[in-house]
Amino acid sequence: MSIKKIAAMAIAGLMTFGVVAVMAQDAFVAPATPEEAVATRKALMKQDGGILRSAGPLTGSEAVMAMQTLKDNYSHIPALFPEGSIVGDSEALPAIWENWEKFVAIAKTGEDAAAAGLVAAQAGDTAGYAAALQAIGGTCGACHQQFRS
Ligand code: HEC
Repeated sequence: MSIKKIAAMAIAGLMTFGVVAVMAQDAFVAPATPEEAVATRKALMKQDGGILRSAGPLTGSEAVMAMQTLKDNYSHIPALFPEGSIVGDSEALPAIWENWEKFVAIAKTGEDAAAAGLVAAQAGDTAGYAAALQAIGGTCGACHQQFRS
């Protein structure tokens, strides 16, 4: 085995470790198969939709929890779309991987809005919290319009 190959394996090992360490925070495990990716991302988006519908009036720790879940879920979107994972009844479009940076940027916009919403919820800033929910909601349609059939 060449030195280069060993180095590449060591880096891959470190990266895997890093990803696992980060994901352990909310026990997220990247999907092992395309089928699992489709099922997990559908469930995640349904959960986000439910939160957005009910989170408006929340305050205190409930508002904090809603934002934390949205933030975590948005941070997982890229990992739930492994390249070419259009299987079964998936409505994902190939455009996702042709415009990957744009796709990830929309997810990041939602994650950043949720991070701001989390801070607002913790501070009891109801206007900031409401603005974050609205910004997060905007990313749903923005992404579906381009990337869901
Ligand atoms: C970065 C892109 C992106 C964002 C942001 C996004 N979605 Fe999606 N959503 C998709 C794609 C792509 C699919 C199709 C997934 C599939 O079928 O494989 C989808 C599917 C769905 C589905 C269908 C699930 C099913 O069972 O078929 C729902 C419901 C949904 N999204 C709700 C939401 C809501 C609510 C939000 C905002 C809180 C949201 N999504 C944000 C890309 C996105």
